Amino acid sequence: MYEGKLVRLRALEKSDLDDILKFYNTLELRRRKGPPIVRSRKYMEEWLDRVSVWDPWRDGQLVMAIVDKNSSEFLGIARLEDILLPHKRAELGISIYNPEKRGKGFGTDATLVTLWVGFYILGLNSIYLDTMEDNEWSIHVYEKIGFKRVGLLRETEYIDGSHKGLLIMDILRKEFQEKYSSSSIINSD
Ligand SMILES: CC(C)(COP(=O)(O)OP(=O)(O)OC[C@H]1O[C@@H](n2cnc3c(N)ncnc32)[C@H](O)[C@@H]1OP(=O)(O)O)[C@@H](O)C(=O)NCCC(=O)NCCS
Repeated sequence: MYEGKLVRLRALEKSDLDDILKFYNTLELRRRKGPPIVRSRKYMEEWLDRVSVWDPWRDGQLVMAIVDKNSSEFLGIARLEDILLPHKRAELGISIYNPEKRGKGFGTDATLVTLWVGFYILGLNSIYLDTMEDNEWSIHVYEKIGFKRVGLLRETEYIDGSHKGLLIMDILRKEFQEKYSSSSIINSD
């Protein structure tokens, strides 16, 4: 539905379950999002049942599938969570599930389109995220897009036997609008 340069964000469907499960239970991915706990098919099915009917106005959550705009291949998940309309803010999360699909521009494009949805459809003013303090790849991508580092929650994540901090980053609507025109992000054909 929301189409950028490389990706389309669409509703998450029950039929996405197999694609999600192909990559979800990997330490490599779960370490970045934490906690790295294995999840059964039934657990993920129930999660998908819940999130696929979430409504941002009613539930404060919008979870979408990221697909390749050309092939429609499932790439991962984009989320706007904890949407607080009185404050016009939300938390963003992006995951490209298949490691082979990373580093090809999909994550950057999916983040831009998700920000566009947050600022231009939901009318948000501020969008923030957290990422592991040592996730240099994601920090690079988010800073390139225009997120600013706002602080570090110290030793909040317990991963592989030691604690790591969570870096908090945010971007304001006015900063996004200064850097990008709507038509530079969204294909409105
Ligand atoms: C983080 C993530 C969303 C980025 O998306 P992506 O599609 O892989 O990234 P893109 O191809 O859009 O951008 C690649 C950029 O990262 C840079 N990069 C690649 N590997 C890197 C690394 N190891 N360290 C730092 N930067 C790196 C590239 O040079 C490129 O930068 P440039 O555009 O300035 O040249 C994606 O890799 C991902 O989902 N990873 C697993 C889950 C995760 O970490 N999610 C974020 C947690 S909040």
